[in-house]
Amino acid sequence: MTIKMTTREMPKAMKHGDLEEVFNNIFVVKGSLSFKKPLPMSFSRNMTVIREGDALTIVNSVRLSDEGLKQLDALGQVQNIVRLAGFHGMDDPFYKDRYGAAVWSVDAPYAVGTSTDPAEEDIYFAPDHKISTATDLPIEDAQIVAINSAKPKEALLLLRRDGGILVSGDCLQNWAKPDKYFSFLAKIFMRRGGFIKAANVGPAWLKFTKADTAEIRGLLGLEFDKLIPAHGEVISSGAKESYRSVISAL
Ligand SMILES: [Fe+2]
Repeated sequence: MTIKMTTREMPKAMKHGDLEEVFNNIFVVKGSLSFKKPLPMSFSRNMTVIREGDALTIVNSVRLSDEGLKQLDALGQVQNIVRLAGFHGMDDPFYKDRYGAAVWSVDAPYAVGTSTDPAEEDIYFAPDHKISTATDLPIEDAQIVAINSAKPKEALLLLRRDGGILVSGDCLQNWAKPDKYFSFLAKIFMRRGGFIKAANVGPAWLKFTKADTAEIRGLLGLEFDKLIPAHGEVISSGAKESYRSVISAL
């Protein structure tokens, strides 16, 4: 099927910090998302970079400034882009365009707006590969964990090393408190919306995607000690135990 894609201007770089090595050969940069509608707000989102030799894989992409891109380029060559969250991916076309990297995405459209069944003309991008639990990503020890009941689909990336490093999209979040990328309104509304909580299952994500709680509980069957969420702070040890009660209670 040929999809008639809309042309869309690539979003500009938004405020972000430095790329930091959080685990061996795994880097995280905290960036932000700013928007004007329905209310002007901004809050933080994280990009993860996995390095293997000279090859870099970007997960939960966040467009960086020229200065940030220099830091990224100093780490190696971007070869893969992994999209775990159906609500993320706005910056994947930028990295695809800049590096010619292969894009591996959950089976969810890249579309303008929030509809789960977007019109063809709202779709702005197509990935090179759709990922599922059967996907063999070009990263050592990597496994895709799919939340197929979510609409749009969601996945997590498990690196079976160092006790298990789980990279999440919107599903598992860890905003214990608002950080410096939260605007005044975001602090108010997101606290009210239940987003500001350590070891949290993304409240809006759960409500909107109607993900089957049994499938989320399945995450407790995975072996992981560390978590790099798309939203909030990295958990360096005991991650699964941190989530056990909230996930069990779903
Ligand atoms: Fe998100």
